Amino acid sequence: MPELLRIEHIEKHFGGIRALNDVSFSIEAAQVCALIGENGAGKSTLGKIIAGVESADRGSFFFDGAEYRPQSPLDAQKRGVAMIFQELDLFPNQSVAANLALGNLELMDKKQKVINRKILETAARPWLEKVGLTINSDIPLGSLPIAHIQLVAIARALSMNTRLIVMDEPTSALTEEAAEILFNTIEKLTAAGVTVVYVSHKMDEIFKIANTIVVMRDGEYIGTRQKNNTDVNEIISMMVGRKFETKNRRKPPASNERPFTEKEPVCLSVRNLCTGKLSNISFDLRAGEILGVAGLVGAGRTELGEALFGLDAVLSGELILNGAPYTPKGPREAMRSGIGLIPEDRKKEGLFIQQTVADNMAVSIMEQNQRFGFIRRQAIAGHVADMIGRTRLKTAGPQAGINTLSGGNQQKALVCRTLMTEPAVFFLDDPTRGVDVGAKEDIYEIMETLAERGKGIIFVSSELPELLRSADRIMTLHDGKVSGIVDAAATNQHELMRLAMGYERTEAPQNG
Ligand SMILES: Nc1ncnc2c1ncn2[C@@H]1O[C@H](COP(=O)(O)OP(=O)(O)OP(=O)(O)O)[C@@H](O)[C@H]1O
Ligand SMILES: [Mg+2]
Repeated sequence: MPELLRIEHIEKHFGGIRALNDVSFSIEAAQVCALIGENGAGKSTLGKIIAGVESADRGSFFFDGAEYRPQSPLDAQKRGVAMIFQELDLFPNQSVAANLALGNLELMDKKQKVINRKILETAARPWLEKVGLTINSDIPLGSLPIAHIQLVAIARALSMNTRLIVMDEPTSALTEEAAEILFNTIEKLTAAGVTVVYVSHKMDEIFKIANTIVVMRDGEYIGTRQKNNTDVNEIISMMVGRKFETKNRRKPPASNERPFTEKEPVCLSVRNLCTGKLSNISFDLRAGEILGVAGLVGAGRTELGEALFGLDAVLSGELILNGAPYTPKGPREAMRSGIGLIPEDRKKEGLFIQQTVADNMAVSIMEQNQRFGFIRRQAIAGHVADMIGRTRLKTAGPQAGINTLSGGNQQKALVCRTLMTEPAVFFLDDPTRGVDVGAKEDIYEIMETLAERGKGIIFVSSELPELLRSADRIMTLHDGKVSGIVDAAATNQHELMRLAMGYERTEAPQNG
């Protein structure tokens, strides 16, 4: 395959931080080139420079043999380069169709003076179909589930006569079925000659779709491997620069700690919970238990968290929290009652983008640490420093702006915030989304420590292996209802998938 993009000696600083250091490699045409590396390795920065969002301090690019130095995303778009961002940058209040058309030279015919809804919808339809979306494109983008919003972002890039698409963790918010649609789309794209630079932390999908794998570490290019000539272990050691082992199953608690048993007190009891989306949800969560929650897009996993946290109205049903009746009224009330939530859409719910890392992490405990009207800064600073260390958060310091962190590290900061409030019950909605292999292990370990200390944890994930690894029991949701609650040790991915799709639990599960 001919070379499409050559990268030569690219360097990029942000203030005193060197995000990229002398990066040089080539990308061939009509291929999927995966870009992998730990949080903060420089993947998003390199992608942004390729797509004209950031400019390099030094170095050069050659695109299709000619010098390429995009001054803006629009400039890059004219040359046929587009990017799907890790943090979505679309307009939630505009319609889906308008989001496809905005700033899109290909879709917006300049001769059309009046752009009406019909024109937008007609232009949008074929591109939405390409990513498997058969939705009404006249509705506001923000009313779609996050998985669909991501697909719209991809449709938008496809619609711009693009030769190279940078996808920055495109499946981070997608379920396996939605990701499957994306992979099919990518296959069609490369068959049609389009090149994809694919940033991801998910090893299995990289080995599924990539032709070549480029590894970065600490802002440097480490090496390129052909997929067929390498394996997961080699890639991980290139990434971390040391031997790294992922653990398989949650380790049994040490003898002096209480193992989770059916005899533990129930910390949250849910009976016949009904909301607009959920019907008759019933389960018990025990102190010290990690209850995994699996389900397809739209099954109601996120809605369950929202209902418990008072973000969505409870229509009927009964909740008992630590032995007392509990009526969710809102996040503040929920936190005071002892429920903590790490939301799925962290951009929407979570970050104060203008604030420091420390303020973003401490915002929830500010209240607890106010004494006689004074905020105990000392106590908070100690707590923040401790969490930064425990989660190996990569930051210039607690006083750095949260917007200077890489995507995965912003995410860790939000996980820290909820962990710091020390509620009795945690609802973690896909807490490992977008974090690298090492950081995932850190988050599992923190969850396990919390469980050992008697907290009840509801752990939502789209990745079945991590549920099987960490949970004691796994509840599957299907179409707003509980379709099964199984022992994690006595089930497997196949069975969980069946339950998530609404089938009965039939065969005896084998291991694996
Ligand atoms: N706007 C910015 N200001 C200051 N520092 C930044 C900025 N953007 C990125 N950085 C720093 O540059 C380095 C590389 O960040 P980048 O976002 O490229 O990492 P990444 O490989 O995409 O990580 P992740 O997997 O977490 O998304 C990090 O140390 C990050 O803190
Ligand atoms: Mg990134």
